[in-house]
Amino acid sequence: MSGQHISRQEFPDDFIFGAATSSYQIEGTKLGTAGPSHWDDFAKRGGTVNNSNGDIACAHYEKWPEDLDLIKNAGMTAYRFSTAWPRIQPEGKGKPLTDGLDFYDKVIDGCLARGLEPHLTLYHWELPLALSEKGGWQTGDTAKYFADFAAIIAGRYGDRLSSIATINEPWCVAWLSHFLGHHAPGLTSLEAGVKSMHNILLAHGLGMEAIRNECDVNAGIVLNMEFGAIDSDKDEDIRARDLFDGIYNRWFIDAIFKGTYPDNVMEYFAPHMPEGWQEDMKAISQPIDWLGLNYYTRNFISDDGTGVFPFAKSHKGDLPKTSMNWEIYPEGLEFFLNRISAEYSKDIPIYVTENGMAWHDNVIDGNVEDDLRCEFFQVHLEAVKSAIENGVNVKGYFAWSLLDNFEWAFGYEERFGIVHVDFETQERTPKKSYYMLQNMLTS
Ligand code: FCB
Repeated sequence: MSGQHISRQEFPDDFIFGAATSSYQIEGTKLGTAGPSHWDDFAKRGGTVNNSNGDIACAHYEKWPEDLDLIKNAGMTAYRFSTAWPRIQPEGKGKPLTDGLDFYDKVIDGCLARGLEPHLTLYHWELPLALSEKGGWQTGDTAKYFADFAAIIAGRYGDRLSSIATINEPWCVAWLSHFLGHHAPGLTSLEAGVKSMHNILLAHGLGMEAIRNECDVNAGIVLNMEFGAIDSDKDEDIRARDLFDGIYNRWFIDAIFKGTYPDNVMEYFAPHMPEGWQEDMKAISQPIDWLGLNYYTRNFISDDGTGVFPFAKSHKGDLPKTSMNWEIYPEGLEFFLNRISAEYSKDIPIYVTENGMAWHDNVIDGNVEDDLRCEFFQVHLEAVKSAIENGVNVKGYFAWSLLDNFEWAFGYEERFGIVHVDFETQERTPKKSYYMLQNMLTS
C-alpha cells in the first residue's frame, strides 16, 4: 500500500467529507426514553460478545454536543447518523414520544449550528421488539409500520436535512440476520431470509412514498457491497461466486434500478417469496435521488461441496487484514463505484456512506497511533478519486466511524472510530487517523 498523502484539492469543490454513526451503536438506549429493540433481546440471548448491548454505548444521548464538535473540528462538513425507531415509537407504532423527537431536534439543529450537513438514516437496525415478535421483516406489515415511522421523521425534520436514507444495508437486515443468523433476530432459515430480502425492499419503497408525501428532501438508500473474488475456473466455484454476488451485490440494486431480481438467485428464492411480491416492484423501483455505498472488504468464494444452496464457502487472500480479519482491498471500492455507474445509473449521485476498519486501539500517553487506519483511508480515498476521474458521479465520503462503538455481535471488542472511546469514563481521544483527516481537510 502506498503511504502517499492525498489532499482535499484532489477532490471536486462540492465533494463532501463527513463521519458516520448509528443510533443503537452510540446513543445508549437506557438514556432518555426508548422501548426495547430486537438487538436488546438478541444480546440477552447470547448473540453478542459477553452479552454486551447498547444500554449505554457511547452515551451520545448526553454527549452529542461534544461529538458534533469533534466532527466540526476535524474539518468535516457532514454528519451521517440514524434515528432509533424504538425511541420514537416504543412499540413500533402509535403516537411518537416527545422525548425522542426532541432529541433528534437537538442533534439536527446542533449540526446546522456548526455548519454540518445532517444526513439521516431512518433504519439502522434496531427494530422495535414488539414488531419483531410479530414476525419482524418476515412480514409485509413491518414495512407498512416502517412507512408510518418514515412519515413522522420526514414530516418533522425533512426541511432541515441534507438527505434521508430509508434503510442501512438491507443485506445485513435480511440475509445476515435471518439466514446466516449473525445479527438480530438470529434466525437461520432460508424461508425467513428470502421473505426478509423482499420485505426490507418493500419497506424502502413504502418509506420513499411516505417521505415524498411529507417533504422534498433528497431521499435514497444505503447498500453495502462486498467483493466476491475467485481463484478457480471450475464451474461449481463460478456458480457459488455468482450466487454470492447476486444475493449480496445485485439483489437490492437490481430491484431498485431495474425493478427485477437476478435470475440466478430467483432460481432458488422463488418458492419462498412472499405472495404477490410482483406487485411491490413498482414501489421498490421508484426513482431515488441518491445512492449510498458502504464498502469494507473482499472474500474469495468457492463451492462448499454440500450440494445445498447457496453452495458457498469463503476464504481470505494474502493482503493485510484488520483486527476482524477483513482484507484491505481498496480496488473493490473502485470496482463497485464503476459498476454502479456503468450498469445501473451514470447520473445518480453516489455517496460512500461508510468505509473504515477495526483495530484493537489503545491510548498510550494520550495518543492512539492507528497507522494502519491512516493508510486504509488513504488508499480508499485514492480509489474514490480514480472512480471520479473515470467519470463516476461520487459526491461524498463518510468515514466509519466517528467513535469506537457497539460493533453489533462483536460488542465493544472491535474499534472502528477515528476517535477512541474509553467505555468506563466515556472519555473521547482523537486518534492519529482523526488528525490525518483533519490535516487533509483543513490545510
Ligand atoms: C456496517 C454497519 C455499521 C458497522 C460497520 C462496521 O455493516 O452498517 O453499523 O457495524 O459495518
